[in-house]
Amino acid sequence: MKAITASPYIESPRGLSSSKGRLYIATFGCQMNEYDSQQMAQILSRDYQLATRPEDADVIIVNTCSIREKAENKVYSLVGRFRRLKEEKPDLIIGIGGCVAQQQGKSLFQKAPYVDIVFGPQGVAHLPNLLREAKKGRKPVCFTSQDRDYNIPFVNAPLPEKNPTRAFVTIMQGCNNFCTYCVVPYVRGREVSRPAEDILSEIRMVIQQGVKEITLLGQNVNSYGKGTSSLPSFAELLKDCSRVPGLERLRFTTSHPKDLTRDVMKCFRDLPNLCEHLHLPVQSGSTSVLKHMNRRYTRDDYLRLIDELRMLCPEITLTTDLIVGFPGETEKDFQQTISLLERVQFDQIFAFKYSPRPFTRAAGFSSQVPEDVKSRRLTEVLALQNEIGLRRYQSLEGKTMEVLVEGPNKTRPDELIARTRGNHVVNIPGPDSLTGHLVQVTVEKACYHSLRGKLTSEDESDMREKYGIDSNVCTCDNP
Ligand code: SAH
Ligand code: SF4
Ligand code: F3S
Repeated sequence: MKAITASPYIESPRGLSSSKGRLYIATFGCQMNEYDSQQMAQILSRDYQLATRPEDADVIIVNTCSIREKAENKVYSLVGRFRRLKEEKPDLIIGIGGCVAQQQGKSLFQKAPYVDIVFGPQGVAHLPNLLREAKKGRKPVCFTSQDRDYNIPFVNAPLPEKNPTRAFVTIMQGCNNFCTYCVVPYVRGREVSRPAEDILSEIRMVIQQGVKEITLLGQNVNSYGKGTSSLPSFAELLKDCSRVPGLERLRFTTSHPKDLTRDVMKCFRDLPNLCEHLHLPVQSGSTSVLKHMNRRYTRDDYLRLIDELRMLCPEITLTTDLIVGFPGETEKDFQQTISLLERVQFDQIFAFKYSPRPFTRAAGFSSQVPEDVKSRRLTEVLALQNEIGLRRYQSLEGKTMEVLVEGPNKTRPDELIARTRGNHVVNIPGPDSLTGHLVQVTVEKACYHSLRGKLTSEDESDMREKYGIDSNVCTCDNP
């Protein structure tokens, strides 16, 4: 999962128009929320253009995440800061969307009386109406119903970003798994798969806007279409998506190990544009902890999947999520997680201290692990993974590979950020005009979470001629 950050959307490419209002969206949480924020911007694009600063906005929306307590608290502190803006500009409309909104519902108005609209993830499609109500003065406005239909309409409007290189496409909403630690099934509702034709139409539309890489999104994409006869299986959907003309790269996230079928694994071997990267959250290396988490697979099941994946696609990059300090996790259980990391050799992990969440079963388990033990275990897994990750990245030094250039590196002018098919970030010297292009690079140096490379001599001599590129000095602080 991406680090939780507030990410303002960039200014509308269509330029400023005096008749339009200004909309500022801050997004916390996972890619599902990023996608929802993008949908909000698209749905409201007729009447609002995006502002880069909340101070300039007529409408502020905070799209929230509730996955861990820390994420939830970040939301309250940001919303608190908008109170002053409302005092200065009483017409300002403040909306709280996303998972904290769904979790807290109307009680958010007591916590923050200056908020006008509260809406859960399934309220995204209703946002124009909710805004109209709020403007009419019918405050507070709240939408937290969770109906079962797939209710995010296909929004036939340009993406908010100018010349987008990558795009997310949601294929399903919600989750039926009820892992005992997780709030998602309560805030996102039950699984609903999106019609395949809508997915394919959206892919075609974003490709026309210049997108080269699509990531199919869902809390558990592997259960796409499950229990219906009218929808294809996830493997079939992948094949259909991969055939859309002009699609250079295809990815998907997230996968639950219990639903990862051989047919899906074979797609890594068989579909030329499916990138060789799988994010497969393991959560724990201990079968007993996995049982208490209600994950419905064992340590051995997981390891078998890894072996099979590597047999079918030896170059696949594997990443994972894990939780330390789940209730009842003993030192022996924790060592099982350590040994699983050693055995699998992930390229990257996202590790979290267990955080009790509302509605969840594990929050009521009696054997909660003390905070200092969780912190020590987190430090230990991160230290181990740093070594493993660096070794994995170092194994790419000297190799030449295809990268998709995503854009300039904001902190280092003259440098570009690019991504390998295996999802490694590569910094390369080069001009902005390469953005959106697939180029060959040679990896020169591995850092902890990124690579440093240069265009291969063929591409480079081309580029030198055209743009006069030079410097290749690694300026990062890592070894
Ligand atoms: N649907 C995805 C993950 C969703 S949440 C999946 O099933 O893999 C992203 C990650 O947050 C999870 O994989 C888990 O590692 C972590 N997470 C979820 N609930 C948590 C909690 N209560 N405490 C700590 N980490 C949690
Ligand atoms: Fe949460 Fe488990 Fe569903 Fe993932 S599969 S969203 S961890 S309940
Ligand atoms: Fe957070 Fe909701 Fe995503 S809780 S991780 S924003 S589904």
